[in-house]
Amino acid sequence: MNLQKIVVIGAGTMGSGIAQWFTQQMCSVELVDNSQEQLAKALQSIHTSWDKLVEKQKLSSLEVSRMKELLSIKSLDQVSRSANLVIEAIIENLAIKKDLFQKLDQYFEAHTILASNTSSFPIELMAEAVTDDRKPRFLGLHFFNPATIMKLVEVIKGKDSSLELCQELYQWFDAKDKKPAMCKDSPGFIVNRVARNFYGEPLRIVEEDDQAKMKEVDSILKEVGGFKMGPFELMDLIGIDVNYSVTCSVWEAYGQEPRFAPHKLQKQMVDEKRLGRKTKRGFYKYD
Ligand code: NAI
Repeated sequence: MNLQKIVVIGAGTMGSGIAQWFTQQMCSVELVDNSQEQLAKALQSIHTSWDKLVEKQKLSSLEVSRMKELLSIKSLDQVSRSANLVIEAIIENLAIKKDLFQKLDQYFEAHTILASNTSSFPIELMAEAVTDDRKPRFLGLHFFNPATIMKLVEVIKGKDSSLELCQELYQWFDAKDKKPAMCKDSPGFIVNRVARNFYGEPLRIVEEDDQAKMKEVDSILKEVGGFKMGPFELMDLIGIDVNYSVTCSVWEAYGQEPRFAPHKLQKQMVDEKRLGRKTKRGFYKYD
């Protein structure tokens, strides 16, 4: 499978990590965002991360200078129409994603694979935005945060996605030392379905904005449960807004099943723009 030319749309937490990881596989990557400021910030932070990896002798300076050549930031109308794979990692909003996919379908050549990094929306619903000819080349590729480190990639086959293509992608990621998992196109796929209770129950235990209690729950789950991060730390890393959208979408998709219900604190924090690490204030403060 030839995945030499990659386009990543959305240069936030996930898009910048995905772009960095693909570049580290020596693919040529064009990163797009509708915010010029975000694009510049993402490029700067990827370069800084590579420079640190050189200092730590995890990458050579020769490799990093090649990677810096391979990664570019662009506006959508500047990217190569002949890309092999386009990964969408924009805001978790179905209408906005569908609108983008309709444009991408028109813009890219017929062979281009279109994939969404959605955390929760059915691939089948998003595929409605593309023409029938593209549908077999439309699927979900769900990376985890931070995408450069987390090995799991959920490969989600929508109703019309080509099984052969999903299998080829699975093998490609496997060969690149990711841990791909084939998933059914069901709400939250595997991890985000299981993880709902990892966030929901701790929120219900804490109930209110109580830092001491959050710290206690985080440290118990780390020390006793063996998790690398506690639920409040992880929600701050993911982004409270992103986590809240995913919670709402999985809850709705399962007919407002109470065990998936969002917590009032999540909505309150989104309204207050306390979005976690990215705004330096979430369940914890990051100064
Ligand atoms: P983010 O809020 O950090 O970044 C989203 C970026 O998309 C922003 O830079 C924004 O300017 C840009 N954007 C919005 N609309 C756009 C458009 N129409 N065209 C181009 N750029 C646009 O969000 P994050 O966390 O990176 O999430 C992106 C996607 O990845 C979402 O679907 C989310 O559910 C999914 N995801 C998030 C994870 C996380 O831990 N944050 C983990 C796995 C998946």
